[in-house]
Amino acid sequence: MIRRVALIPGDGIGVEVVREARRLLEALNASESLGLELVDWDLGAERYLREGITITDEEFAALAEYDAVLLGALGDPRVPGNEHAKDILLGMRFKLDLYVNFRPCVLLSPKLSPLRDLVGPLCLEIFRENTEGAYTGMGGSFKTGTSDEVAIEEDVNTRKGVERIIWAAFEFAGSRGRGRVTLVDKANVQRHAGGLWRRVFAEVGAAYADIEQDAMYVDAMVMDLVRRPERYEVIVTSNLFGDIVSDLAAEVTGGLGLAPSANIHPGRVALFEPVHGSAPDIAGKGIANPIGAIRCVSLMLDHFGRSDLGERVEAAVAGSVEAGKTTPDLGGEYSTEDVGQWITARVVGVHAAST
Ligand code: NAD
Ligand code: IPM
Ligand code: MN
Repeated sequence: MIRRVALIPGDGIGVEVVREARRLLEALNASESLGLELVDWDLGAERYLREGITITDEEFAALAEYDAVLLGALGDPRVPGNEHAKDILLGMRFKLDLYVNFRPCVLLSPKLSPLRDLVGPLCLEIFRENTEGAYTGMGGSFKTGTSDEVAIEEDVNTRKGVERIIWAAFEFAGSRGRGRVTLVDKANVQRHAGGLWRRVFAEVGAAYADIEQDAMYVDAMVMDLVRRPERYEVIVTSNLFGDIVSDLAAEVTGGLGLAPSANIHPGRVALFEPVHGSAPDIAGKGIANPIGAIRCVSLMLDHFGRSDLGERVEAAVAGSVEAGKTTPDLGGEYSTEDVGQWITARVVGVHAAST
C-alpha cells in the first residue's frame, strides 16, 4: 500500500529538523518496505517573498489528498505579520478541520527537566482544540492608529467544537488506560465559554467513571504544573490555552526541541509538526534539536498503524539522550545532523542486528 507524505520544511530550523526526519523516514521506508512516497513542498517565507503567494486553493486541495504532512516550522523575521504561517499552518488546521491538536510531552530522564527534585516519570498529553477559540480571526479594528483605536478578537466556542475535542481526550485516556483527564479553562471569568466547556466536560466524562476528572483555571494550573507536574496526565483545553500550556509542558519535560504534535481529524490527512517554531536565534547554525521532528515521525508511524515502529523510534530517542548524543540545548555538543544520523542508525541498525 502506497502512502503519500508531503514534507514542508518551511523556515529557519524547520529546514534543518525536517532533513533529519526525512533521513529517518527514508531509512525506515527502505528497511521496512513501508511504501511511503515522500514529496517535497516548497512553502514558506522564501516562496512568499519571491512570489507573493502563501498557499493557493489548489495546493490545499492537493495536500488534502495526501495521507500525512510533516511541517517543520513557519516564521521569518522578514515577514513580521506572519501572514504565510497564518495562511499555511492555520489554513491547514481550519480548512481541513483538523480539530485535535495532540501534543504529548514525555520526560525521558529527570536530568532533562529544569525542575529541581523531579524524579519522574512524566507524561503530559495535551488535547488542544484546533479549529476555533481565539484563533478564528473573527473581530476587527476600528479607528486604527488613533488614540481611540478599538481592537476586538473574538473567542469562539461551539458546542460541536468543544464536544469533539473533549470526547477525543476521554477516548484516548480510556483506550490507553490513563488515570486522569484535566480540563483547563478560565471559567471564573469567561463565564459563557467556561460554562459550555464545564457542562460538556461533565457530560462526556460521565461515560468514563474509572477516570479521575478535574477542571482547573489556567492560571492556577500552570502554577501547579511547575509545582507538581506528576499530577497531570491527559489535559484538554482550548486553542489559545493549549498553545501556551504546551510550550510550558514541553519545557518541563526537557525542552521545546523535544516535543512533537499531531493535527488530526480521523479519516483525513494528518498534519505533524514539532511544537517549536523556526527559532531564528539559532537557525543556520546546525544546532537545532531534531528530536521534536523525529518524534513526529513516531506519531506518524502510530497513525499509520505501525506503533511497533513508533516505539522503536521512541526507544532510539531515549537512547540518544541516555548516551549524551544531544544538541547543545540538552547540554550536548553534537549537531542536528549528528543526532539525526545517530537515531536513524539506532532505529534501523540495532533492529537489523537483532533479527
Ligand atoms: P521558537 O519555538 O521558534 O523558539 C523559542 C526558543 O526555543 C528559542 O530560544 C529557540 O532557539 C528555542 N528552540 C526552539 N526549538 C528548538 C530546537 N529544536 N532546538 C533547540 N532550541 C530550540 O519560538 P519563537 O522564537 O517565539 O518563534 C519564532 C518564529 O516561529 C515566530 O515567527 C513564530 O510565529 C514561529 N512559530 C512557528 C511554529 C510552527 O510553525 N509550528 C510554532 C511556534 C512558533
Ligand atoms: C504552534 C504555533 C502556532 C500556534 C503559530 C505559529 C500560529 O505557536 O503551533 O504552537 O499558535 O498555533
Ligand atoms: Mn505555539
